[in-house]
Amino acid sequence: MQSDVTRAHYDRLADTYDENWAYSPEFIAWMTSGILARLKLARADRVLDVGCGTGLYSCGLAEQADVVVCTDPSSGMLAQLPNDERLLPVHAGAEDLTQGRVRLPHDGYDAILLKEVVHHLPDPSQVLSDLSGLLRPGGRILVVMLPMSIGYPLFDAALRLFQERQPDPQAIATALTDAGLNADLTYEEFPLAFTVERYARMVRSRYMSLLSSFDDAQIEEGIAEIRRRHPGPELRFPDRFAFVTGVKA
Ligand SMILES: C[S@@+](CC[C@H](N)C(=O)[O-])C[C@H]1O[C@@H](n2cnc3c(N)ncnc32)[C@H](O)[C@@H]1O
Repeated sequence: MQSDVTRAHYDRLADTYDENWAYSPEFIAWMTSGILARLKLARADRVLDVGCGTGLYSCGLAEQADVVVCTDPSSGMLAQLPNDERLLPVHAGAEDLTQGRVRLPHDGYDAILLKEVVHHLPDPSQVLSDLSGLLRPGGRILVVMLPMSIGYPLFDAALRLFQERQPDPQAIATALTDAGLNADLTYEEFPLAFTVERYARMVRSRYMSLLSSFDDAQIEEGIAEIRRRHPGPELRFPDRFAFVTGVKA
């Protein structure tokens, strides 16, 4: 997806993003603890949350660190960031940072998070290599992303498009190794449950950016396909994530 299309998608979604993505306090707590377990923050750490969105995970980072610089190219998403002096908003895409178009407030960071962002980067390996250069000695970078195939109860055309677009977590791990970091790839999943009605609303609001590639008629056809496949009132499926960590010696 091109960056201006992506930005428009997230600006439009910003007001309802937390409703869609904060599936439950349990999900946020589960994901936050998975992130914190890997980033191993210390109280004095400076953190960079690249593509922070509304700051759903920046807040958990801020509780264990000194400061979290929250960057996102969508002003709509960034506007939802909680008002907290430990969260420093920076309006920028990852490439704006790595190519020097936007200056960060510090020279180096102890931890960098990219959660569900890497699929938006035209050249993830280059951006990750450049971001690795911002790590202080002992610094950690964590990429949280969906695997190449997902068990979401979406319609077939959406699942096919996902598979075409989603980067391979193993390639991300290789990019971190190539950038001189000690890389590690693990997977974990969280069980999700929604009523079909709620999931239909999420699909209609294009809760995943790839759904923006479908027009209204295609989305309604897709929802009808989901309803045909799942005649019961509830949808249960695992949300599986790849966690790719890179540590600078
Ligand atoms: C799925 S959301 C994830 C937001 C947040 N990290 C979270 O997990 O809640 C993807 C975010 O990536 C941002 N994004 C899109 N393109 C980007 C880019 N080139 N560099 C950095 N962030 C980008 C979007 O604006 C959006 O806020």
